[in-house]
Order: sequence, then C-alpha cells, then structure tokens
Amino acid sequence: MQLADPQFGMYAQLSRIDDAERIRFDGMGLKLPFAPETYGLEYETDHYSKAIAAANRLRPDFVVTCGDMCNNKIDPADELAELKRITSTLDPDIPMYWVAGNHDVTNEPTYESIENYRERFGPDFYSFDRSGSHFVVLNSTVWQQPVNVPDELDKQREFLKSDLRSAREAGADNIVLFTHHPPFLTYVDEGDSWLVLPQERRRILVDLLTEYDVATVFSGHWHRNHTAFFGGLQIVVTGATGLPLGPDPSGLRLVTVRPEGISHRFYAFDEMPTEFSPGLET
Ligand SMILES: [Fe+2]
Repeated sequence: MQLADPQFGMYAQLSRIDDAERIRFDGMGLKLPFAPETYGLEYETDHYSKAIAAANRLRPDFVVTCGDMCNNKIDPADELAELKRITSTLDPDIPMYWVAGNHDVTNEPTYESIENYRERFGPDFYSFDRSGSHFVVLNSTVWQQPVNVPDELDKQREFLKSDLRSAREAGADNIVLFTHHPPFLTYVDEGDSWLVLPQERRRILVDLLTEYDVATVFSGHWHRNHTAFFGGLQIVVTGATGLPLGPDPSGLRLVTVRPEGISHRFYAFDEMPTEFSPGLET
C-alpha cells in the first residue's frame, strides 16, 4: 500500500490563503481546490485514519508513505504528534516505511534538517527485500537541491549504485524505487521545474535505474495521479492522502508486485474496498 503527502497542517494553511499566495500557487500551475476553513488537523486526521484503517483491513505486506508527512517545515511538533498517534494504530505486523519529502527536510536540505528527519523517521535512504523483490528508498529533495549537503548526494548515489548491483546479483525479481519527487513527468529530457528532479541529476538517477532494470518509481509531491514511461521504467505519481491539488480526490494506491510484473491502482477513500482480493490493484 502506497501513501503520499498526508501532510498534516496543509488544510489549515491553504484554507486561510491570501490572494498573493493564491497567485503564487497559480504560477506553479496548481489550481487550489476549495479547502474548508480550519485551524486544526481534523481533515488530515480523517484521511490518514482511513488509510491506516484500510491497511489494517486489507493487510498489505507493508505500507510506504512517500513524503510530506507534515506541512510545517520548521516546527511540525503538533502535526508530527498527530501523525504518530494515528500511525501507532497500524497493526504492528504491517511495517510502515517512511520516505522524506521536501516539507520533511525543507526545500534546501541542510545537515540539521536531515538530522531532524532521521530523529523523527529513521534513515532517509535505505532498502529492504520482500517476497523476492527489492525496494529502495531515496531522499529525493537532496537530489533536487544538494547545494548545502553535497556529500549527502554523493552518499546516496554510491549507496544506490552498490545497492542496485547487489540486488541484481542476488537475483531480485523486481526492483522498485520510492521517492517523493518523480524524476520527470512526461519526457526524460523535459525542462526543470519544482515538480521534478533537475535534468543534470535526473539523468544520473535514470541512467542507474535503467542500467539495473528498475521496474517502477513510486512517488508523490504533485498531490495528483500521473504515470510516465521511459523504456522499461515506469514513473508513478500518487495523489495525496491529504489535501489534493488537482482533479484526484484524497486516497491511496494499492500495488501488487509479482515476478512477472507490477500492477497498481489508486483508490479514493470513499471507494476503498473492504477486503483484499486478487485484481483489486488493476
Ligand atoms: Fe506535498
């Protein structure tokens, strides 16, 4: 089960947005949906609780949350407490894997912001195996903007290379990558934007993914659903568990990884299946 952008605190921020801020969002190509006025976290609590309840019901092998767990980049204490309170209701037999988003490490990560992240959520890049397939997590904000932490980018790149090589040597059926930013949205050579990785580092990443035949990148960040392809590589952007920024409602994605391929489908919370059955994810 993949979640993205539960982003506790975003409803409160955007429901009280002023005209200047609305123009700024328009300039980023984001049409803000109607956000009900709130000063609290009740909408994020509702959505994320539904996601965790769905996990307890459908019993996926694991849950992964692809970044922007909280909205406040500087002091997310209240948001984080609510996120953790609800996460603690996830059945302990179902692991939760966290992925760092730009709100979790700031848009220009520093050693301090990354250290804060690691204290809150654990490592920001790592990998794990499940049922014959290999899953890798990267901190894509460092790939987006490494200016303050160049050696963190180097470490991730070296890690990725040796990790992918050993996964292939070990005979992994599929290799899947989880990030916050999608590497690109339409074409691998498209221009730079806040939504994707800059061309320079995108190319380094995509070359490695291609070399080791990585099947799919699951990401978030856009708060809407989208897919793109480059050769055998599929890029999946998953709509927000929290506040949507486009036509797709709040929800989550169900994914099945089989030796012969990967299938997946986004579900809005009001159409979530009550129990898992094969084919639900297609
Ligand atoms: Fe986000």
